[in-house]
Amino acid sequence: GHSKEKDVRVWCDGCYDMVHFGHANSLRQAKALGDKVIVGIHTDEEITKHKGPPVFTEEERVKMVKGIKWVDEVVLGAPYVTTLEVLDQNNCDFCVHGDDITMTAEGVDTYHLVKSANRYKEVRRTAGVSTTDLVGRMLLLTRNHFRQGSAEYDIEKEDSAAKSPWTGCSQFLPTTQKIIQFSDGKSPNPGDKIVYVAGAFDLFHVGHLDFLEKASKLGDYLIVGLHTDPVVNSYKGSNYPIMNLHERVLSVLACKFVNEVVIGAPYCVTEELLEHFKIDVVCHGRTPIALENGKSDPYAVPKTRAIFELIDSGNEMTTERIVERIISHRLEY
Ligand code: CTP
Ligand code: C5P
Repeated sequence: GHSKEKDVRVWCDGCYDMVHFGHANSLRQAKALGDKVIVGIHTDEEITKHKGPPVFTEEERVKMVKGIKWVDEVVLGAPYVTTLEVLDQNNCDFCVHGDDITMTAEGVDTYHLVKSANRYKEVRRTAGVSTTDLVGRMLLLTRNHFRQGSAEYDIEKEDSAAKSPWTGCSQFLPTTQKIIQFSDGKSPNPGDKIVYVAGAFDLFHVGHLDFLEKASKLGDYLIVGLHTDPVVNSYKGSNYPIMNLHERVLSVLACKFVNEVVIGAPYCVTEELLEHFKIDVVCHGRTPIALENGKSDPYAVPKTRAIFELIDSGNEMTTERIVERIISHRLEY
C-alpha cells in the first residue's frame, strides 16, 4: 500500500527519580533511534525492593517524564528486569538504555533478557549529572549554610569570584551543540500570542511543570527567562542555585511547554525586553515575588501596561522543599 511503514516504537525504562537533563538527553537520543518513545517507570514499591525508597512519588515521577518533549507515552509499573513480554505488550521493537550497567538487588544485569534477544540498544550517558551528584550538592549546600559564620568554614570569606559556591560543584560541560539539540528551533508564527515568564527554575520540578503548562495555555508561544547564578543567589541567598545557568537552560528546554529560553534574563521585565520579543502577556506563579534590592517590583512595567497575570499552578512543590526531602532521606544515600 501507500501507507507509511509501521512506527518504530522505542522502550526506555528506569526509576526517573529526581528527573534531570541527563534523563532528558537519553530520551532525546532514544527518539532519534525510532519514531515513538514509550517510557516504563518503576513503581515506588519496585524501587524500594531494589534500592530503597525513591525521593519522589510515582505520580510525581510519571508527571516529570510526561513533561519531556521527546516522550510519547508513559507506562507506570515497568518491571526492574526488562522482559520481552513487556516490550511486546507495549508494541516496542527494542529497548534503549544509557551505557552504564544496572543491576537488581541480587546482582543480575537488568537488561540481560533484551540483550540476548538482540532487542537492546545503548546511548551515551550524559557525563557530569546524576541524582547522586545533585544530592551531594544539596547536602553541601546545607552544610555550608549551617557552618556559615563559624571560624572553621566561613563561605563569606572565600573569594567568591574564584570559587563560586553556587557553580563550583558542577562537573557538567555545557556546549552549544547540546543547546542546539535541546532547542526546538522554531520562531513564533505571525500573529502568535507570546507569553513570557522568568525565574530561577532551579532543580526543575513538578511545580515548575504545572506552572509552565498553565502559562503556555495563555498564548501560542512560551518564552522562559532564566536569571544568572549571581542574580538567583542575590534573592535566594545561601548557596542557591543548586544547578548553574547552563544546566537550568537544558532542564527548561527539555520541557514540552517551552518554545524559547532567554539565557540570563534581567531580573526586572523591561520595556526593551517586551519590545524585543513582542511579548503579549507576562505571568508569575503562586510563589512570592522578591523585590529587586528589596524595593522595586520586577513586574512594574508589565503591570502598568496591564499585560501581567498571576497563575495558580495548584502545586506546592518548591526547590527548598526538594532539599528538605533529600535531607530527611539522607540516611538512605
Ligand atoms: N541516564 C543518562 N545520563 C545520566 C543519568 C541517567 O543517560 N546522567 C539514563 C540512564 O542510563 C537510563 C535513563 O537515564 O537509561 C533512566 O534511568 P534511571 O534508572 O532513572 O537513571 P539513573 O542511572 O538512576 O540516573 P541517576 O544516576 O541520575 O540517578
Ligand atoms: O522559584 P522559581 O523562580 O524557580 O519559579 C519560577 C516560576 O514558577 C515562578 O513564576 C513561580 O511562581 C512558579 N511556580 C509555581 N508553582 C510552584 C513553583 C513555582 O507557580 N510550585
